[in-house]
Amino acid sequence: MLQLGDEVSLYSLVFVVILLGTRSPVWTTALTASLYLFLAMFRFPQVPAGRARRVLHPVPGKVSVVAHRGGGHDAPENTIAAIREASKNGATGVELDLEFSSDGVPILMHDDTVDRTTNGSGPLSQMRFAELRKLDLAAKHRLRDKFAGERIPTLEEAVEECLKLQLTIYFDVKGHPDEVQPKIFLIDLHSGKTFNEAEEAAAALRDLYKKHPGLYNSSIVCSFEPKVIYRMRQSDPEVVTALTHRPWSLSRLGDGAPRFPAAWRHQWMTLMDVLLDWAHHHLLWRLCGVSAFLIQKNFVSPDYAQYWAQRGVEVVAWTVNTRVEKEYYQELLHVNYITDSLVEDCEPHY
Ligand SMILES: *[C@@H]1O[C@H](CO)[C@@H](O)[C@H](O)[C@H]1NC(C)=O
Ligand SMILES: *[C@@H]1O[C@H](CO)[C@@H](O)[C@H](O)[C@H]1NC(C)=O
Repeated sequence: MLQLGDEVSLYSLVFVVILLGTRSPVWTTALTASLYLFLAMFRFPQVPAGRARRVLHPVPGKVSVVAHRGGGHDAPENTIAAIREASKNGATGVELDLEFSSDGVPILMHDDTVDRTTNGSGPLSQMRFAELRKLDLAAKHRLRDKFAGERIPTLEEAVEECLKLQLTIYFDVKGHPDEVQPKIFLIDLHSGKTFNEAEEAAAALRDLYKKHPGLYNSSIVCSFEPKVIYRMRQSDPEVVTALTHRPWSLSRLGDGAPRFPAAWRHQWMTLMDVLLDWAHHHLLWRLCGVSAFLIQKNFVSPDYAQYWAQRGVEVVAWTVNTRVEKEYYQELLHVNYITDSLVEDCEPHY
């Protein structure tokens, strides 16, 4: 959706910044015009509002409650057991992390290694699916007895379970906020490795949507990486998408602690954070044509939700884990939220 005031302020700001930098009206005009042309030529339009609404509010007029990694507090995260548990406890949808085994099988897993969530150890990128399938996902969970023997599901098994239970799926595609690489330029955010992951993920998801067209009405592809979302829209522009964002994610960890001990590096990353935040709110959402914006809960306010609503974009808050907060998002803000537990208050999983 085009906001005239928005566009004018965007290009005015770009114009002033380039003018200050180059002191050349000719260069400034050329570069600003190039940005305009670039956006006009390469941006994806949002999917029709009606379809985005079906995905974001499957129950019309009601706030959606989404179980984070399937609800990692109530069952081992990213498992079929978690999906069933979330459904049983009244979730509208589940957020699931897409990853790949070393032999290229799309699976559910959040981390780069299997150490935290299974009884195995080692990097995911060096384990074949057959090996991964032997691991026990309940081994380190607080409810390990109840869920003993739970295995890593393939993406497809998980999707089929969600379709059967009529749960909305928020696919989270690579780009952990706590493992970001240093960024050089706003659009070209990460290393070449991520680019290949973006390709691989977009191809896997495109096949999945083809095979299960019901997903167009019941799922959304989300990522911290604008590149992943852009790639997804290139491979299938009909898919509903969202950008995920946590302000200050380059310079600070999820709990607010500085990511880098060296002061110069911290300050440099803080500056990058300011640019990235600006790009998310003014450029990247438009370039990708996203329908929703998944933001760390502390940054959501009525004004903030309004900012996005005016642009035809829905805010979704993460991770909302206490009853009082849930009531605030549900009753006052009317904003969808992602939670680690459907049943009780718990600590956030970053
Ligand atoms: C993990 O647990 C499963 C099920 O108990 C077992 O079959 C497997 O050998 C274990 N793997 C490791 C690496 O301990
Ligand atoms: C999505 O829902 C709409 C309205 O119910 C329906 O017309 C359309 O066929 C559905 N699309 C798919 C791919 O299921």
